[in-house]
Amino acid sequence: MNAEAAASQTSSLGQAIVERINELGAISETPEHLARIFLTPQHRAAADLILGWMRAAGMRAHIDAIGNVCGRYEGQQFGMPCLMLGSHYDTVRDAGRWDGPLGIVTAISCVAELNRTGRRLPFAIEIVGFADEEGVRFASTLLGSRAVAGTFDESVLGKADRGGVTMREALASFGLDPDTIGKAARTRGELYAYVELHIEQGPVLEGLNLPVGVVTAISGATRLAARLTGMAGHAGTVPMKQRKDALAGAAECIVMIEEFCRTDDGGLVGTVGYIHATPGATNVIPGQVSFTIDIRAPGDAHRRRAVTDMVRQIETIARRRGLELQLDVTHENRSIPCADWLKGQIAAAIASEGYPVVELPSGAGHDGMAMIDIADVGMIFVRCRGGISHHPDEHVETADVDAGARALLRMIENFRPRDSAH
Ligand code: GLV
Ligand code: MN
Ligand code: MN
Repeated sequence: MNAEAAASQTSSLGQAIVERINELGAISETPEHLARIFLTPQHRAAADLILGWMRAAGMRAHIDAIGNVCGRYEGQQFGMPCLMLGSHYDTVRDAGRWDGPLGIVTAISCVAELNRTGRRLPFAIEIVGFADEEGVRFASTLLGSRAVAGTFDESVLGKADRGGVTMREALASFGLDPDTIGKAARTRGELYAYVELHIEQGPVLEGLNLPVGVVTAISGATRLAARLTGMAGHAGTVPMKQRKDALAGAAECIVMIEEFCRTDDGGLVGTVGYIHATPGATNVIPGQVSFTIDIRAPGDAHRRRAVTDMVRQIETIARRRGLELQLDVTHENRSIPCADWLKGQIAAAIASEGYPVVELPSGAGHDGMAMIDIADVGMIFVRCRGGISHHPDEHVETADVDAGARALLRMIENFRPRDSAH
């Protein structure tokens, strides 16, 4: 089939996936701004919906100790190692509907298709809807996939969200036992590979007029939490030269970070996505400010050097303004390569569906960053409109959803474990 014929063939796979994406997208803390945050009641409702879809697709399914929704479709014999597929079902705040859910829902549709036609493959298929990839609630990301990879850091259980609820307490109210998280861990021998389908979240595929692409690598990231403490005071009486304005200090840091990354030519990106000033009144000089910093680059050494330089500059700004600084690294992930043998099988599947094969890196983080500790990782990207993501305007055309689903199904059907791949 040529590319045009493939693109115009919007099979029922794509349409059914879009309907489910919309159903999941309606489960939100606030109806007008999608937010499905780790271990909230909406998160639980989404988990139950996914659980039902997995069971309807002929899978055995359960919710594991961290809140991941896990389904298994047996192979030709019971207990075979699996090809693991997945993505996350938590969201950022004021999110789009597609980031995460597309990978889960598409994988379930592929298994449903195998089940409908009574096919069993020479390996099992498992799907994981990871509970937390975004790291919104506890400033600690990839919690679901780290639990599966056996690298969950138990010290984060004591972390509190902005409302003072600890992760331990939140797990208990979700119906989980925080002391059993180790049970979610899987071992290398149980998995042949981890493959994730995800929206691109960038403009490359759209620029090439292609619905799908093969991911080469996922950029590393460092996240920090900063707190500047100055002196609150009267906005009308304290002379400008005698102020220790924590918010003005934070503003200088933020502009420095933007300028540092903007003038870098190695693909460095930096974001301050959250800021909170206290006491927070029009006529009071801000005494304390907390903000987050997110720094990414394709090269790890480059990112680390940049973080060191920016931290030094933040320290200088704080010292010059007489502000006390506390700076903590809350997340650090090296960049990870997708495995050549999986890239080859994904490329073959895309080509079989009639599309030219293009390779592209991921600037966004994904669960593969944790899964690489127990499995080789592959990813398929699906074009999204305008490259927009982490925004309510995130959108994928049904024909592209369908193209992604057909490529993933083809990849699954033809999948060969590494040792038997040629
Ligand atoms: C996840 O979406 C991330 O890259 O921040
Ligand atoms: Mn995201
Ligand atoms: Mn995502």
